Amino acid sequence: MSWASKAFGMGLGLFAVTAVAYAAHPAKTPSAAKPKAAVTKAKATKVTKAKATKVTKAKAPVLTGRRPPLVATGLKTPALVTNSCSACHGLTGISPLGEFPNLAGQGEPYLVKQIEDFRNHTRADPLAQSIMWGMAASIPRNKIRSVALYFASQKGAPGQPAPAQLVAAGRTLYFGGEISKQLPACMACHGSSGRGLLPWFPRLAGQHQAYIIAQLQAFKAGTRTNDPHAIMRTIAAKLTTAQMTALAAFVHSL
Ligand code: HEC
Ligand code: HEC
Repeated sequence: MSWASKAFGMGLGLFAVTAVAYAAHPAKTPSAAKPKAAVTKAKATKVTKAKATKVTKAKAPVLTGRRPPLVATGLKTPALVTNSCSACHGLTGISPLGEFPNLAGQGEPYLVKQIEDFRNHTRADPLAQSIMWGMAASIPRNKIRSVALYFASQKGAPGQPAPAQLVAAGRTLYFGGEISKQLPACMACHGSSGRGLLPWFPRLAGQHQAYIIAQLQAFKAGTRTNDPHAIMRTIAAKLTTAQMTALAAFVHSL
């Protein structure tokens, strides 16, 4: 077995553990059953009336044994997004600044979890505290899922140019990990195309480099601690700043 497949296997083991942990603690947003109902309703009304809304089943693998979440396309931009979130995350979830993450194409369950974590103060890195705690608290409870679904349904950021040497170094780590440090391959959980794996493993493809580096540093410093089983804290602790920079350049290019 090559070192790369060992690192991938190590990642898969951790992946399974994380998936089980998440499944045991589903998001506490009330009316967990509602989004399906809401989407079905939207389908019933909008598709018959305007034929504008297509509702399709996400083709991603299911980790929790539940039915795959529905992904709706052609959703109307919620007023909250227009009036508030768009200032930093862009109207379609592609943000103009490196410190503000793209939300477009991010998994809906992951987005809901992050919003909940900001609201409970379990995601508490400095920018979370200074900006997102207040923003998340301002979202009415019954709007959390619709805002998340809106961003999830937007087209993810395309790959961006990044320095070739960094991209090459990042690619090696992303697909192969580093066996001597027991660093698992990122690919095991974030997918071979960096689009993430539903429901809980976030998309990294096309994400801003500054944001990726800031999150890896926050996991390493222990200021972001909302990852179950400290999965990302354990991984980031093994990364040097140079490796983080390379990984950020690589995923930015995906
Ligand atoms: C003033 C700028 C600003 C506004 C307005 C804003 N955000 Fe954010 N958002 C941020 C920053 C900065 C971060 C990164 C926080 C961190 O580093 O932990 C973030 C992170 C997030 C994340 C986590 C993304 C990830 O990949 O983990 C979500 C989800 C999110 N915001 C949703 C929203 C929603 C929904 C709104 C509107 C109600 C909103 N934000 C409004 C600046 C903003
Ligand atoms: C065993 C599974 C696993 C592996 C392997 C893994 N990750 Fe993660 N990663 C996660 C999970 C789960 C989260 C979301 C944590 C949460 O719920 O907030 C995450 C979150 C992240 C985030 C924050 C994303 C955001 O939008 O805020 C970054 C950046 C990241 N991972 C980078 C990496 C890199 C780079 C590697 C490889 C060196 C890697 N991950 C390997 C499971 C994994």
